Amino acid sequence: MECTLNVNGRTHTLLVRPDETLLDALRDRLHLTGTKEGCGEGDCGACTLQVDGRAVNACLLLAADAEGRDIRTVEGLVQDGDLNPVQEAFVDSGGIQCGFCIPGMIMSADALLRSNPDPSDQEIQEALAGSLCRCTGYIKIFQSVRAAAEAMAGSK
Ligand code: FES
Ligand code: FES
Repeated sequence: MECTLNVNGRTHTLLVRPDETLLDALRDRLHLTGTKEGCGEGDCGACTLQVDGRAVNACLLLAADAEGRDIRTVEGLVQDGDLNPVQEAFVDSGGIQCGFCIPGMIMSADALLRSNPDPSDQEIQEALAGSLCRCTGYIKIFQSVRAAAEAMAGSK
């Protein structure tokens, strides 16, 4: 079936299977491989991206159901070749080890900070609760989100 997706500000018309997930359409057809596939069942958060500004698991959403919605992947956070403040903070924090969970973490953190620029520690932890990391112990990831919030506040 034909499916028109708005991804990172660009419109793509694709042929997809009726049961094809947004995750598969992005990775296999648009080659946007920044969005990772972990469990494929909504449990790990590796596939988190933003749909209409909200963090969503792309493995749980059919591509056909994403038509007409504003889809943003981790690739779409880059502006004019520069990392956005959340991406910068994760790189600077030293909180990235194998990196597999990081795109999903960043998309959840970015969605949080767009709606809540000064979150509490608990709100940061809640926003990232759906993303599992087997490497870092989370502390530096939470510190990255705090650093991003401070950087964004300082740039206003
Ligand atoms: Fe989607 Fe794990 S791959 S939540
Ligand atoms: Fe390896 Fe998070 S950095 S899973």
